[in-house]
Amino acid sequence: MKIPHFFPLSMSTLFFLCLLRFVYFVSAQGSDFPSFSSPIGPYVPPDIYLIDCGSPQQAQLDDGRIFLSERDASPLLRTKQDVLALVDSLSSSETSSYPVSSLPLYRTARIFPDEAIYTFKVSHAGLHWVRLYFHPIPCPTYNLADAVFTVTANELVLLHDFRVTDISKLVFKEYLINVTSSDTVLLKFTSEKSFSFVNAIEFVSAPDSLVSDTATAVLPLGEFTGLTTYDYEVTYRLNIGGPTVSPSNDTLFRTWQPDNTYMTFAEGAQNISVPFGVIKYPNPGATAYIAPPYVYATADQMANSGVNQQNFNLTWKMSVDPSFSYMIRMHFCDIVSKSLNQLYFDVYINGLMGASGLDLSSLTGGLAVPYYKDFVLNASVIRNGSIMIQLGPAATVDPSSPNAILNGIEILKISNSARSLDSDPAAGSSKGRGPRTNKMKIFAAIALATGITAMFLLAKSFLGKKKKRHQTWNHGKSSSWLSPLNNSKAHLLSSRTSYRSSLFSSSKSKSKSGFSSFFASGGFDRSFTFKELQEATQNFDEKAVIGVGGFGKVYLGALEDGKKVAIKRGNPSSQQGINEFQTEIQMLSRVRHRHLVSLIGYCDENTEMILVYEYMANGPLRDHLYGSSLPPLSWKQRLEICIGAARGLHYLHTGAAQGIIHRDVKTTNILLDENFVAKVSDFGLSKAAPNLDQTHVSTAVKGSFGYLDPEYFRRQQLSDKSDVYSFGVVLFEVLCARPAINPALPREQVSLAEWAMQWHRKGMLEKIMDPHIAGKICAQALKKYAEAAEKCLAEYGVERPAMSDVLWNLESALQLEEASTSSGCDPQKGGLQV
Ligand SMILES: *[C@@H]1O[C@H](CO)[C@@H](O)[C@H](O)[C@H]1NC(C)=O
Ligand SMILES: *[C@@H]1O[C@H](CO)[C@@H](O)[C@H](O)[C@H]1NC(C)=O
Ligand SMILES: *[C@@H]1O[C@H](CO)[C@@H](O)[C@H](O)[C@H]1NC(C)=O
Ligand SMILES: *[C@@H]1O[C@H](CO)[C@@H](O)[C@H](O)[C@H]1NC(C)=O
Ligand SMILES: *[C@@H]1O[C@H](CO)[C@@H](O)[C@H](O)[C@H]1NC(C)=O
Ligand SMILES: *[C@@H]1O[C@H](CO)[C@@H](O)[C@H](O)[C@H]1NC(C)=O
Repeated sequence: MKIPHFFPLSMSTLFFLCLLRFVYFVSAQGSDFPSFSSPIGPYVPPDIYLIDCGSPQQAQLDDGRIFLSERDASPLLRTKQDVLALVDSLSSSETSSYPVSSLPLYRTARIFPDEAIYTFKVSHAGLHWVRLYFHPIPCPTYNLADAVFTVTANELVLLHDFRVTDISKLVFKEYLINVTSSDTVLLKFTSEKSFSFVNAIEFVSAPDSLVSDTATAVLPLGEFTGLTTYDYEVTYRLNIGGPTVSPSNDTLFRTWQPDNTYMTFAEGAQNISVPFGVIKYPNPGATAYIAPPYVYATADQMANSGVNQQNFNLTWKMSVDPSFSYMIRMHFCDIVSKSLNQLYFDVYINGLMGASGLDLSSLTGGLAVPYYKDFVLNASVIRNGSIMIQLGPAATVDPSSPNAILNGIEILKISNSARSLDSDPAAGSSKGRGPRTNKMKIFAAIALATGITAMFLLAKSFLGKKKKRHQTWNHGKSSSWLSPLNNSKAHLLSSRTSYRSSLFSSSKSKSKSGFSSFFASGGFDRSFTFKELQEATQNFDEKAVIGVGGFGKVYLGALEDGKKVAIKRGNPSSQQGINEFQTEIQMLSRVRHRHLVSLIGYCDENTEMILVYEYMANGPLRDHLYGSSLPPLSWKQRLEICIGAARGLHYLHTGAAQGIIHRDVKTTNILLDENFVAKVSDFGLSKAAPNLDQTHVSTAVKGSFGYLDPEYFRRQQLSDKSDVYSFGVVLFEVLCARPAINPALPREQVSLAEWAMQWHRKGMLEKIMDPHIAGKICAQALKKYAEAAEKCLAEYGVERPAMSDVLWNLESALQLEEASTSSGCDPQKGGLQV
């Protein structure tokens, strides 16, 4: 089977991702890790009846199932009189929303002027699907659009006074019923006033694991038990962020429809997908029967709104019959995070909290591991005839990048106390199948309103006026295995700080005294008072913010002598912030270099954690490459900047006593001063290079998507060659002026590293180069540069050059370029020979 390649990672990387999850789990839980099973084999139903009613011959669908012809099914049917109807082709306008494979079933129908009963023998009690297909095809003697009838399965009412008045409609009804005592199920069609009809019937066993007895009740929030005592109608089954999953791709022959029409703020959502082979079903837990891997391999996440504190809800709204209660099953699978413990979000149903700070990492213990959660929504909570599902970043935790994801939704109507799944029209309800178009308009209006609200929130948070007070990590957590992890982080920190123990009174200390005594001996020029920094930033005016990160904000300030500085003010309640702050101080105290951003001073009054850096007037390199209106850099400037950054990294790797690995090399962490001199910044994730006895210090893969060394993923072992890999991505980013990952592009282009390497191998790199510099480059210089980038991206660290070699290559590229401008190299011949 060919595995579709949807995702910005190579297959091997994705494999490593799974491996990473595994390794991570081992390291987090010792030997006590769960076993992961491969997706289980196809489901073999003990009972299976498939009937293409009214059909002269059996129908074989594309998904492989064979439906019995009229004659073959006749022993199952008891009725006084019946009529067959058959059309050659369907004139339906709705065919597109149904799997094409089931279309043949709608072409014929069986009409029952009297009561009709199908008898199905049940060999195994338990759950069964009942699937009914209706389409009022033309028939000379009966107008099927006039039929009003009731369908029951034993005592259970499936449809009551049901009709399909719209002759262009294909109606598919699906039920999940629990067959308990009797050994037969009688499917009965009756009509008091007219006649009944049906186009096709399925009666098939389903795995009992599909319904578990308990779920989360939404109001009041708590546990609901007794789900196995009910029967269900499948009202919605959506594959979020992906295409229709047709019966052929689901071992239970379910159809999963796309969610697009139910999203109320589609702009806020971004679809994502991974190859389905990546999905790893846990055992026990969600199985492939619960939902096929295609469902878990696609999702919607929060679109990047370009603000740092993004906060809005992903929202889906579906109309339902408000006289029933519903079981809502949400399918989740973290296919977005680059490591565990990055994703925390809240789940709301009809505005009520369903799950607060849902933490897939601790629920599944891994990335790409499916998880589902059932909720029960009582009819009393359904207003305006709709179910609204909302997901937004958890307010109780402070994730580095707020996000929320959903992979699938199922909404199942719960049978009522009268054992019915269809309300009695006498009760006066419109039953949700009245004039649909009016409803659609209303929802469109609601959608628009919600969209505007969300935009407003975005704008507000962009202006920074709506800053949520986040609690610390541990507050929002109920999970047990995270705590040892946090401890192990603390331990790591202490082991990294131990060689500086003379500076930190206690290695685990995050206290003021540790902070300042460190500085005191660190030999920095000055300590600032809080008041001085308040003045420098006009009391931390939001207008002075030049950057925001997980740790807090960076302000542009002016000291009393007029010198401009960048002031990074930590958020003391963020655990992550404290760790990164300490790392940063630690690292910066060990290194001083023209191509590394330097620290000027600090302030530790009032439990504040503030660092003062030299100000880099031209900001991040990325802003000069794309996504802003700044003038493009010349090729020579780009070469000089890359050389500067390479020097900085080379010094980091070799200059300090123990060597430092930056771990987050990317174009936003290369800053430019007023003369466009490049300086590497942001040492929050940096690590001392491992000693020989320290090969397993790393537990969590950190860094930025698109720049991550695949070998680091795979082996969890950090080396300076991981920085070299990231720098290779930077080199291509500088050349092509596009992001390392751009999910909006066709899939083969999503990952810059892969895309650029493809074109480089073809020797046609100039085809994807930044048009601002394409054709203006000396061919030999480009060749040298591209070779350097290519070597950096080698699969294995040992094959990658050291930064010194990269630096040498870049310098010779610059020399070639300079020589060519004086001697007149013809840039038009710029094709690379490979
Ligand atoms: C079916 O109903 C029986 C009797 O109420 C119950 O014991 C069993 O758990 C149910 N099975 C399922 C899968 O709902
Ligand atoms: C995913 O999003 C893109 C762009 O927004 C859109 O063109 C595409 O149709 C979406 N795919 C699915 C399966 O919804
Ligand atoms: C479904 O199955 C077909 C053939 O088996 C395959 O080509 C297709 O990619 C699958 N994916 C989805 C999402 O349906
Ligand atoms: C998300 O939805 C919930 C429930 O409707 C609401 O309370 C919350 O304020 C929403 N969050 C945002 C950021 O709009
Ligand atoms: C809904 O709530 C009513 C009372 O408020 C209760 O009688 C009924 O059993 C509930 N139904 C479900 C499915 O929870
Ligand atoms: C229901 O609709 C009314 C008017 O259309 C609106 O005022 C109200 O807020 C809606 N309620 C809910 C829960 O959506």
